[in-house]
Amino acid sequence: MIINDIMSETLPSLTIKGKTIPVPVIQGGMGVGISLHPLAGAVAREGGIGIISSACLDRLVSKRTGKKHNSYEAAYEEISLAKQNGGFAGINIMCALARDYNDSVKGALDAGADVIISGAGLPLSLPAVQDPKDTALIPIVSSARALEIICKKWEKLGYRPDAVVLEGPLAGGHLGFKMDQIDIDANRLENLFPPVKDMAEKYGDFPVIVAGGIYSHEDIAAFMKAGADGVQMGTRFLATEESSASSDYKHAVLTASDDDIIVAYDPGSPCGLPFRIIRQSPMYVSALSKKRKPKCDKGYVLLKDREGKFSLCPAKESNEHHFCICNGLLSSANFNPESEEPLYTVGTNANRVDKILSVKNLMDELTGKVCVQTSV
Ligand SMILES: Cc1cc2nc3c(=O)[nH]c(=O)nc-3n(C[C@H](O)[C@H](O)[C@H](O)COP(=O)(O)O)c2cc1C
Repeated sequence: MIINDIMSETLPSLTIKGKTIPVPVIQGGMGVGISLHPLAGAVAREGGIGIISSACLDRLVSKRTGKKHNSYEAAYEEISLAKQNGGFAGINIMCALARDYNDSVKGALDAGADVIISGAGLPLSLPAVQDPKDTALIPIVSSARALEIICKKWEKLGYRPDAVVLEGPLAGGHLGFKMDQIDIDANRLENLFPPVKDMAEKYGDFPVIVAGGIYSHEDIAAFMKAGADGVQMGTRFLATEESSASSDYKHAVLTASDDDIIVAYDPGSPCGLPFRIIRQSPMYVSALSKKRKPKCDKGYVLLKDREGKFSLCPAKESNEHHFCICNGLLSSANFNPESEEPLYTVGTNANRVDKILSVKNLMDELTGKVCVQTSV
């Protein structure tokens, strides 16, 4: 398939760092183990940007290949596979995974990733890790203030963002908002957008990609009409044939009602950020009972203490206030289902999903090639 032949019928293309992406849709990185090369490669082939998640990628790729891969090698391998049939692909690297951060960045850069998207914290030193050459560096923010802090820091490093993802509070995964800020009007994506667009213009007029709660072709078209340059979507791609979510996870998405989708905080993610889940997720239910014993044998979520040393993940000591996010999410991606209870993260719109689609069918719907009646 020749990517350049794929043109969205009604949506404009998206240009980032001189590369023109035919369909202005970025499939959001979904850790742990949900957006791997089968999903990212399929999105790339359909003209969007496919994104690998770097979370726990060393373990996931090592298990798949039967050969030990470190974080650098795993990022390199997965990006190479996602790009092998053409199109644009990149990686999502969360700041919260501090210990593996630089190695994941270097592996992705050396493999020729088109973009590195980085959030779950402010990626202040991303441009300093290694010369990005053709790879676009894209922070994820939840406010104009956060974008300004990043722009000022990156300016000192001689770099400016190649684009920014503005993620609102309806997204899946970790949320960049305090619990009492999630539902307020000022933080609706459409209200967060104008000051972020102004900030992007002030620092070099780079593209602004919006994310969180975008579901249909009409949603995309409305944000593009309001001045967004593209969208990033997670939940719709979670519910595809190519996503690496377990069949139980996909079933939980199909059957989730509005009331089932909640924001977990205490017990919550050891990262300390609110985390949106399906409340029936077995790991959440058992953490709520306050009787869950920690079973962590991974040690990924390592935060730095005041002296800059890596501290222990809080979920390793007790699951009273935190669930074991790495093991719970790995289980949801079929990594260790026999030894751990799964944890299902979704965006608010998961209740609208009633069908698992192929990436091709989903992209046809999102670009407006196929009209679909969506329920609200
Ligand atoms: C299953 C799942 C896992 C996610 N994992 C990550 C992640 O590891 N890092 C990240 O920055 N965002 C993560 N996200 C957020 C998505 O990349 C995306 O920005 C967000 O889900 C957009 O909102 P939507 O789901 O309403 O489309 C995740 C979302 C989902 C649904």
